[in-house]
Amino acid sequence: MKRRIVFATGNTDKLREIREILGETDWTVLSIKDAGIRIDVEENGSTYEENALIKARAAAALAQADDIVLADDSGLEIDYLNREPGIYSARYLGEDTSYRIKNQNLIDRLQGVPDEKRTARFVCAIAAVLPGGKELTCRGVIEGRIGYEERGSGGFGYDPIFQVPELGKSTAELNEEEKNAVSHRGKALRAMREKLKEVL
Ligand code: IMP
Repeated sequence: MKRRIVFATGNTDKLREIREILGETDWTVLSIKDAGIRIDVEENGSTYEENALIKARAAAALAQADDIVLADDSGLEIDYLNREPGIYSARYLGEDTSYRIKNQNLIDRLQGVPDEKRTARFVCAIAAVLPGGKELTCRGVIEGRIGYEERGSGGFGYDPIFQVPELGKSTAELNEEEKNAVSHRGKALRAMREKLKEVL
């Protein structure tokens, strides 16, 4: 029988990415909803890894004994703003505030800041809880710079203001495949896929 991977997210964009990246394995990827699990946790860790583990453990407690449970946590770190918004990226200016407003606010806070000081990165941690309780974490990072205006309509969240200098584009100007190839989440997921292959 195929091994079940349960991914603790309700975010369909993330699920599509993880299915694409883990698709070449013989694992079946389910969302927690597909697995009939509901979790409501407070992400009160102080690192991406801790928050990812909090979500993965909560889902694992309700999953089947032989399920592999994964969760992720990610954020945008802007060096000039002391790595804000960081682990608070989703909550920055309020969870329900539009990204048009969040992005414009960050551009405004960087007004007059020259290119070389606009460095930033997206960070993603993936946590896994394996049958038997063993835990693993992986991290992926993409380095870039905060732009002077929103560019592109792909992706989500802070993508329109995140410029990748080597590509001369924002991550909102990349198609899904291009973004997966370079993104923090793509890198962390591929690292987790390799770790899982080793231990399973
Ligand atoms: P999480 O769902 O708790 O991991 O929240 C991560 C937050 O970081 C998202 O809501 C976005 O604000 C931001 N973020 C993470 N990854 C990306 C990305 O790939 N593009 C744009 N924003 C991102």
